[in-house]
Amino acid sequence: MKIIKVKDYAELSETAAKIMSDAVKNNPKITLGLATGGSPVQLYANLVADHKNNGTSYKDVTTYNLDEYIGLDQNHEQSYYTFMRTNLFDHIDIDFNNVHLPKGDTDDHQAEADRYEAMLESTTVDLQLLGIGTNGHIGFNEPGSSFEGVTAVVDLTPETIESNARYFEGNEDLVPTEAISMGIASIMRAKEILLIASGANKQKAVLALVEGDISEDLPASALRNHPNVTLVIDDAAAALLK
Ligand code: F6R
Repeated sequence: MKIIKVKDYAELSETAAKIMSDAVKNNPKITLGLATGGSPVQLYANLVADHKNNGTSYKDVTTYNLDEYIGLDQNHEQSYYTFMRTNLFDHIDIDFNNVHLPKGDTDDHQAEADRYEAMLESTTVDLQLLGIGTNGHIGFNEPGSSFEGVTAVVDLTPETIESNARYFEGNEDLVPTEAISMGIASIMRAKEILLIASGANKQKAVLALVEGDISEDLPASALRNHPNVTLVIDDAAAALLK
Protein backbone atom coordinates (compact mmCIF):
# COMPACT_ATOMS: atom_id res chain seq x y z
CA MET A 1 0.00 0.00 0.00
CA LYS A 2 1.45 3.31 -1.03
CA ILE A 3 0.65 6.15 1.40
CA ILE A 4 0.75 9.78 0.31
CA LYS A 5 0.44 12.13 3.28
CA VAL A 6 -0.70 15.66 2.56
CA LYS A 7 -1.39 18.70 4.69
CA ASP A 8 -5.11 19.15 4.38
CA TYR A 9 -8.28 18.52 2.40
CA ALA A 10 -7.33 21.01 -0.32
CA GLU A 11 -3.98 19.31 -0.95
CA LEU A 12 -5.61 15.86 -0.78
CA SER A 13 -8.14 16.92 -3.40
CA GLU A 14 -5.42 18.28 -5.69
CA THR A 15 -3.20 15.21 -5.29
CA ALA A 16 -6.00 12.71 -5.89
CA ALA A 17 -7.44 14.70 -8.80
CA LYS A 18 -4.01 14.72 -10.44
CA ILE A 19 -3.77 10.92 -10.10
CA MET A 20 -7.20 10.55 -11.69
CA SER A 21 -6.79 13.11 -14.48
CA ASP A 22 -3.36 11.69 -15.36
CA ALA A 23 -4.97 8.25 -15.59
CA VAL A 24 -7.64 9.60 -17.95
CA LYS A 25 -5.02 11.37 -20.09
CA ASN A 26 -2.92 8.20 -20.29
CA ASN A 27 -5.93 6.06 -21.16
CA PRO A 28 -8.81 8.07 -22.68
CA LYS A 29 -10.93 4.89 -22.73
CA ILE A 30 -10.37 4.21 -19.04
CA THR A 31 -13.04 2.61 -16.85
CA LEU A 32 -13.31 4.43 -13.53
CA GLY A 33 -14.97 3.28 -10.34
CA LEU A 34 -16.40 6.30 -8.54
CA ALA A 35 -17.47 7.20 -5.02
CA THR A 36 -19.80 9.78 -3.54
CA GLY A 37 -19.79 11.47 -0.12
CA GLY A 38 -18.00 14.48 1.26
CA SER A 39 -14.47 13.24 0.58
CA PRO A 40 -14.42 13.47 -3.25
CA VAL A 41 -16.38 16.75 -3.64
CA GLN A 42 -13.32 18.98 -4.09
CA LEU A 43 -11.50 16.27 -6.06
CA TYR A 44 -14.41 16.26 -8.55
CA ALA A 45 -14.39 20.07 -8.66
CA ASN A 46 -10.69 19.87 -9.56
CA LEU A 47 -11.44 17.34 -12.35
CA VAL A 48 -14.09 19.72 -13.70
CA ALA A 49 -11.58 22.61 -13.61
CA ASP A 50 -8.97 20.45 -15.34
CA HIS A 51 -11.52 19.49 -18.01
CA LYS A 52 -12.38 23.14 -18.62
CA ASN A 53 -8.82 24.51 -18.46
CA ASN A 54 -6.82 21.69 -20.00
CA GLY A 55 -9.40 19.94 -22.14
CA THR A 56 -9.07 16.53 -20.50
CA SER A 57 -11.85 14.60 -22.20
CA TYR A 58 -14.21 12.03 -20.72
CA LYS A 59 -16.08 11.29 -23.93
CA ASP A 60 -14.72 7.72 -24.07
CA VAL A 61 -14.53 7.18 -20.32
CA THR A 62 -16.82 4.64 -18.65
CA THR A 63 -17.82 4.91 -14.99
CA TYR A 64 -19.32 2.60 -12.39
CA ASN A 65 -20.34 4.03 -9.05
CA LEU A 66 -19.99 2.06 -5.84
CA ASP A 67 -23.48 2.38 -4.53
CA GLU A 68 -26.92 3.95 -4.41
CA TYR A 69 -29.49 4.38 -1.68
CA ILE A 70 -32.58 2.19 -1.83
CA GLY A 71 -35.85 4.07 -1.87
CA LEU A 72 -34.69 7.24 -3.59
CA ASP A 73 -35.47 7.71 -7.25
CA GLN A 74 -32.58 8.76 -9.45
CA ASN A 75 -33.59 12.40 -9.46
CA HIS A 76 -34.08 12.72 -5.69
CA GLU A 77 -31.79 15.49 -4.53
CA GLN A 78 -29.88 13.13 -2.22
CA SER A 79 -29.57 10.21 -4.65
CA TYR A 80 -26.01 9.36 -5.58
CA TYR A 81 -26.98 9.77 -9.23
CA THR A 82 -27.89 13.40 -8.51
CA PHE A 83 -24.68 13.79 -6.51
CA MET A 84 -22.61 12.58 -9.46
CA ARG A 85 -24.43 14.82 -11.91
CA THR A 86 -24.13 17.88 -9.68
CA ASN A 87 -20.49 17.37 -8.74
CA LEU A 88 -19.06 15.89 -11.93
CA PHE A 89 -21.06 14.49 -14.83
CA ASP A 90 -23.00 17.65 -15.75
CA HIS A 91 -19.76 19.61 -16.04
CA ILE A 92 -17.64 17.29 -18.20
CA ASP A 93 -18.11 15.79 -21.66
CA ILE A 94 -19.02 12.30 -20.43
CA ASP A 95 -21.46 10.23 -22.49
CA PHE A 96 -24.32 9.34 -20.14
CA ASN A 97 -24.60 5.96 -21.90
CA ASN A 98 -21.24 5.15 -20.28
CA VAL A 99 -22.33 6.15 -16.77
CA HIS A 100 -23.47 3.39 -14.42
CA LEU A 101 -24.94 3.43 -10.93
CA PRO A 102 -27.19 0.86 -9.31
CA LYS A 103 -30.82 1.98 -9.35
CA GLY A 104 -32.39 2.39 -5.94
CA ASP A 105 -36.00 2.59 -7.06
CA THR A 106 -36.68 -0.65 -8.95
CA ASP A 107 -39.37 -3.17 -7.96
CA ASP A 108 -36.80 -5.86 -7.33
CA HIS A 109 -33.67 -4.65 -5.52
CA GLN A 110 -31.97 -8.04 -5.49
CA ALA A 111 -32.43 -8.40 -9.26
CA GLU A 112 -30.98 -4.90 -9.69
CA ALA A 113 -27.97 -5.82 -7.54
CA ASP A 114 -27.47 -8.97 -9.63
CA ARG A 115 -27.77 -6.97 -12.88
CA TYR A 116 -25.16 -4.49 -11.66
CA GLU A 117 -22.77 -7.23 -10.55
CA ALA A 118 -23.12 -9.00 -13.91
CA MET A 119 -22.17 -5.75 -15.65
CA LEU A 120 -19.16 -5.35 -13.38
CA GLU A 121 -18.09 -8.94 -13.99
CA SER A 122 -18.12 -8.35 -17.73
CA THR A 123 -15.72 -5.42 -17.49
CA THR A 124 -12.56 -4.34 -15.69
CA VAL A 125 -12.41 -1.23 -13.55
CA ASP A 126 -9.00 0.32 -14.20
CA LEU A 127 -9.02 2.78 -11.31
CA GLN A 128 -11.42 2.65 -8.37
CA LEU A 129 -11.83 5.70 -6.14
CA LEU A 130 -12.88 5.03 -2.53
CA GLY A 131 -13.67 6.99 0.59
CA ILE A 132 -13.72 5.30 3.98
CA GLY A 133 -16.46 5.34 6.61
CA THR A 134 -15.69 6.29 10.21
CA ASN A 135 -16.29 2.58 10.96
CA GLY A 136 -13.95 1.44 8.19
CA HIS A 137 -16.62 0.68 5.59
CA ILE A 138 -15.88 0.90 1.87
CA GLY A 139 -18.83 1.29 -0.42
CA PHE A 140 -21.63 0.41 1.98
CA ASN A 141 -19.85 -2.74 3.12
CA GLU A 142 -20.28 -2.31 6.83
CA PRO A 143 -18.17 -4.08 9.52
CA GLY A 144 -18.73 -7.85 9.32
CA SER A 145 -19.24 -7.85 5.54
CA SER A 146 -17.66 -10.82 3.83
CA PHE A 147 -14.50 -10.18 1.83
CA GLU A 148 -16.07 -12.53 -0.75
CA GLY A 149 -19.17 -10.35 -1.13
CA VAL A 150 -20.37 -9.09 -4.50
CA THR A 151 -22.92 -6.38 -5.31
CA ALA A 152 -25.86 -6.77 -2.93
CA VAL A 153 -28.68 -5.14 -1.02
CA VAL A 154 -27.14 -4.02 2.26
CA ASP A 155 -28.32 -2.48 5.53
CA LEU A 156 -26.69 0.73 6.69
CA THR A 157 -25.44 0.65 10.29
CA PRO A 158 -26.70 3.21 12.83
CA GLU A 159 -23.23 4.84 12.70
CA THR A 160 -23.46 5.34 8.94
CA ILE A 161 -27.04 6.61 9.18
CA GLU A 162 -25.95 9.08 11.85
CA SER A 163 -22.96 10.16 9.78
CA ASN A 164 -25.03 10.64 6.59
CA ALA A 165 -27.89 12.51 8.32
CA ARG A 166 -25.97 15.71 7.58
CA TYR A 167 -27.18 15.41 3.99
CA PHE A 168 -30.82 14.85 5.07
CA GLU A 169 -31.58 18.02 7.03
CA GLY A 170 -29.69 16.48 9.96
CA ASN A 171 -32.64 14.10 10.40
CA GLU A 172 -31.66 10.43 10.77
CA ASP A 173 -35.25 9.40 10.08
CA LEU A 174 -34.93 10.68 6.51
CA VAL A 175 -31.76 8.67 5.75
CA PRO A 176 -32.49 5.48 3.77
CA THR A 177 -31.71 2.37 5.78
CA GLU A 178 -30.64 0.22 2.83
CA ALA A 179 -28.47 0.58 -0.23
CA ILE A 180 -27.25 -1.41 -3.20
CA SER A 181 -23.49 -1.58 -2.96
CA MET A 182 -20.65 -3.20 -4.81
CA GLY A 183 -19.26 -5.92 -2.56
CA ILE A 184 -15.71 -6.09 -1.32
CA ALA A 185 -14.86 -8.78 -3.88
CA SER A 186 -16.32 -6.57 -6.64
CA ILE A 187 -14.17 -3.65 -5.46
CA MET A 188 -11.05 -5.79 -5.17
CA ARG A 189 -11.23 -6.73 -8.87
CA ALA A 190 -10.19 -3.19 -9.84
CA LYS A 191 -6.69 -3.00 -11.27
CA GLU A 192 -5.81 0.01 -9.13
CA ILE A 193 -7.46 1.55 -6.06
CA LEU A 194 -7.19 5.11 -4.77
CA LEU A 195 -8.55 5.72 -1.26
CA ILE A 196 -8.89 9.23 0.13
CA ALA A 197 -9.39 10.06 3.81
CA SER A 198 -9.53 13.51 5.34
CA GLY A 199 -10.23 14.82 8.81
CA ALA A 200 -9.96 13.76 12.42
CA ASN A 201 -13.13 11.66 12.31
CA LYS A 202 -11.30 9.21 9.99
CA GLN A 203 -8.26 8.77 12.30
CA LYS A 204 -9.36 5.50 13.86
CA ALA A 205 -10.44 3.95 10.58
CA VAL A 206 -7.15 4.96 8.92
CA LEU A 207 -5.13 3.60 11.84
CA ALA A 208 -6.97 0.27 11.68
CA LEU A 209 -6.60 0.17 7.90
CA VAL A 210 -2.84 0.78 7.92
CA GLU A 211 -1.70 -0.82 11.18
CA GLY A 212 -4.51 -3.09 12.35
CA ASP A 213 -5.37 -6.69 11.55
CA ILE A 214 -6.78 -7.71 8.20
CA SER A 215 -10.27 -8.55 9.34
CA GLU A 216 -13.89 -8.42 8.21
CA ASP A 217 -14.48 -6.23 11.28
CA LEU A 218 -12.72 -3.49 9.32
CA PRO A 219 -13.92 -3.84 5.72
CA ALA A 220 -11.25 -1.49 4.31
CA SER A 221 -8.49 -3.80 5.62
CA ALA A 222 -9.27 -6.09 2.66
CA LEU A 223 -7.34 -3.54 0.60
CA ARG A 224 -4.11 -4.71 2.22
CA ASN A 225 -4.50 -7.86 0.09
CA HIS A 226 -4.69 -5.80 -3.11
CA PRO A 227 -1.47 -5.31 -5.13
CA ASN A 228 -2.02 -1.70 -6.22
CA VAL A 229 -3.56 0.59 -3.62
CA THR A 230 -2.70 4.24 -2.97
CA LEU A 231 -3.97 6.05 0.11
CA VAL A 232 -4.03 9.82 0.06
CA ILE A 233 -4.57 11.00 3.62
CA ASP A 234 -4.29 14.39 5.25
CA ASP A 235 -2.51 15.20 8.52
CA ALA A 236 -5.70 15.07 10.57
CA ALA A 237 -6.68 11.62 9.25
CA ALA A 238 -3.10 10.34 9.66
CA ALA A 239 -2.59 11.67 13.19
CA LEU A 240 -2.67 8.29 14.96
CA LEU A 241 -0.27 6.53 12.55
CA LYS A 242 3.20 5.64 13.81
C1 F6R B 1 -19.71 6.56 -1.11
C2 F6R B 1 -19.36 5.40 -0.30
C3 F6R B 1 -18.95 5.51 1.13
C4 F6R B 1 -18.15 6.77 1.46
C5 F6R B 1 -17.83 6.81 2.95
C6 F6R B 1 -17.13 8.09 3.34
O1 F6R B 1 -20.07 6.20 -2.43
O2 F6R B 1 -19.45 4.31 -0.79
O3 F6R B 1 -18.18 4.38 1.47
O4 F6R B 1 -16.98 6.80 0.71
O5 F6R B 1 -19.01 6.70 3.69
O6 F6R B 1 -18.02 9.15 3.20
P1 F6R B 1 -17.55 10.66 3.33
O7 F6R B 1 -16.63 10.92 2.19
O8 F6R B 1 -18.82 11.46 3.22
O9 F6R B 1 -16.89 10.79 4.66
